Amino acid sequence: MNFYTLKFEDEKLILLDQTQLPGKEVYLDLTDYRDIIEAIKMLRVRGAPAIGVAAAYGCVVACQNADDFEEMMKYLEEIRIARPTAVNLAWAVDQMKDIANSNKEKSLDQIRELFLEKAQQIHKDDEEMCRKMGENGAELIKDGMSILTHCNAGALATAGMGTALAVIYAAARQGKKIKVYADETRPLLQGARLTTWELMQENIDVTLNTDNMAASLMQKGMIDCVIVGADRVTKNFDVVNKIGTYGVAVLAKHHNIPFYVAIPWSTYDENTPAGEDVEIEMRDPEEVTNWSGVRTAPEGVNVYSPAFDVTPHELVTAIITDTGIVYPNKK
Ligand code: MRU
Repeated sequence: MNFYTLKFEDEKLILLDQTQLPGKEVYLDLTDYRDIIEAIKMLRVRGAPAIGVAAAYGCVVACQNADDFEEMMKYLEEIRIARPTAVNLAWAVDQMKDIANSNKEKSLDQIRELFLEKAQQIHKDDEEMCRKMGENGAELIKDGMSILTHCNAGALATAGMGTALAVIYAAARQGKKIKVYADETRPLLQGARLTTWELMQENIDVTLNTDNMAASLMQKGMIDCVIVGADRVTKNFDVVNKIGTYGVAVLAKHHNIPFYVAIPWSTYDENTPAGEDVEIEMRDPEEVTNWSGVRTAPEGVNVYSPAFDVTPHELVTAIITDTGIVYPNKK
């Protein structure tokens, strides 16, 4: 890859600002935890695993910014609730809180060192999980397959090669010829802006389609399987992912096309029984009524804009993880 999604250097978190892609490749240097929260909320950094890693480094920055232990814990909680749906965010911050609570007697400088060590571990583990997911998932991909994906579950969404796209990269590295169809992914166009951008950089054959073209592609026999990522997979293997994923899963079922979900185990939430128990983030209506500063709907119109939806596990053929492949519906 000739870009990186995020790194921590010289007391700052450096992020590729994904809101400016594909037009501009701008890296932001963040030294205030509030700017990291803003970056997470505005999707400058996005995708469940990448948010988890950014939040872990965000805790290091929060510790640098705080004057005392209580203040630091307050900052950590602010980071934890920046976005509610991707479990990796709370998962990463909770690990930092545990470290802080068991080292209360230490100075903030010492706690910061422990935070940094943990954040670097979370970062490294994420890279490694992406690599393993890719290898495990590549088994399911045959030479010549056409694969539909939704949103961006690639390197831009993780600290490594991605989740869904890691499978595609691994299969391509094995010499398999693969064609990818990327759903544009309204309203924020993660598919059009990000998935196509990163796949083209890696010379993967990618074709962009608007979300409402997926049905027709399947009807014409042009899709062999679907692979997506997830923001959270609940105990019963329901999949919470970018809005529109559920529709793709229903279409795949109707056309008898395998529907695969690739996740690191950090995205599995065994404490939440089912998809209906997950808080779904609602986004600013302006993301639907405006594009690039231009209004595309009448002033005052009502808008429904959840960021994610729930795909019931019955529609999931297999879940590809870093430790192997899980078949949620096999008895
Ligand atoms: O709102 P976003 O762009 O953060 O949503 C991202 C997704 O829905 C991804 O598919 C998911 O996080 C998996 S990324 C490996």
